[in-house]
Amino acid sequence: MLAQEIIRIKRDGHPLERAHIDNFVKGLVDGSWSEGQAAALAMAMFLNGLSRAETAALTQAMMHSGRVMDWSQANLSGPVLDKHSSGGVGDKVSLMLAPLVAACGGVVPMISGRGLGHTGGTLDKLGSIPGYKTMPDVATLHRALQSAGCAIIGQTADLAPADGRLYAIRDVTATVETVPLITASILSKKLAAGLQGLVMDVKVGNGAFAASMDMAKALAESLVQVATGAGLPTRAWITDMNQVLGTTAGNALETLEAVEFLKGNALEPRQLLVTRILSAELLLMGGLAANEVDALQKVDQALQSGRALEQFSRMVSALGGPADFVERPSHYLSAAPVQLTVPAPRSGWVTGMATRDIGLAVVELGGGRRQASDTIDPRVGFTQFAQVGQQVHSGDVLAVVHAADTASAERARQTLLALIHIGDTPPVMSPVLLKHVV
Ligand code: URA
Repeated sequence: MLAQEIIRIKRDGHPLERAHIDNFVKGLVDGSWSEGQAAALAMAMFLNGLSRAETAALTQAMMHSGRVMDWSQANLSGPVLDKHSSGGVGDKVSLMLAPLVAACGGVVPMISGRGLGHTGGTLDKLGSIPGYKTMPDVATLHRALQSAGCAIIGQTADLAPADGRLYAIRDVTATVETVPLITASILSKKLAAGLQGLVMDVKVGNGAFAASMDMAKALAESLVQVATGAGLPTRAWITDMNQVLGTTAGNALETLEAVEFLKGNALEPRQLLVTRILSAELLLMGGLAANEVDALQKVDQALQSGRALEQFSRMVSALGGPADFVERPSHYLSAAPVQLTVPAPRSGWVTGMATRDIGLAVVELGGGRRQASDTIDPRVGFTQFAQVGQQVHSGDVLAVVHAADTASAERARQTLLALIHIGDTPPVMSPVLLKHVV
């Protein structure tokens, strides 16, 4: 069938059959669908939606568009588990969760992405560690999983390549924020990774792709149903993204916060809660804990005993980073030359923040990409970020800007002053864990 005939069906609001979707996905990979045609179908899908059956067909076709990983020959010691976040600002949970789950007996081959729009990417955070190979060969990956129980790496070109091309087209045609396409995009990669259990962290709020609870719920339910239907047990938590998670945003700065977290030194409560609950969920899914209380205890022990830190350290060195990275992270992570505090302009309470714009301020400092080909400056970003609900006095530190030069630091300081809101009364606090979707 001609591509334009398939586009016409969706344009006119009719459902696509599996054969149409297979034709599209094949065309994405072999180039028989032009960029214009793929963009037109993406927009028709965006505007007219996809049923659950169409979403499942698209997910499975994209999953099979490349290599599907098989861990049976890798000599792994536990269930293969993973977590995925729909994206936020300061969201470094993966860096702590992967070694925590590994320390409890799981195996976490986590395929992560680079920063996207205003959100940071796990891969960019780890890219700040000198020598760390985000694209290891298969033998190195297997060795890392055997010795550390976790390996956070990038998506290879042969894993769900149809998603790679479609995603790049969606990114520049305003067709990203729609539940069926996000579902198919995320799950095609996760299904191709040969997992036995997946937990999704669906972010909601002014720093997330899902701005409303309705959209987050729809996305969580779609992810859980489509993944489970395709044979991958999946559960989701909807978590709050109306403020920076933890106290840092920016690649090397977040990596440093993650190491300090694993040392028990930087346990910002909301970040700790999200990390514990998602880790515990994976232990339950992998049969590594008897119940939720047991799972949380195991996670806490892995953190307090330093075993999770040890797994992280092994992962870094197995993937080419310094063997003593966790002992001397500040020695290896380069620091920005300019650091500027952002003082509270008045006394009161932090009542909210424009989180998406804070993510964009990191991009503006050079910590994210405007175009896919851009290189990023891992040193820049923010630390000591104030929390919503915090009482501040005039002159207290709301954040510290880390910048490549004085002019960009000063611009970021002015930007942050407009993005962090201070009021006269304490705000009504929203919990960080909002909904469990199973
Ligand atoms: N992350 C993905 O991998 N795909 C999307 O569509 C959105 C977020």
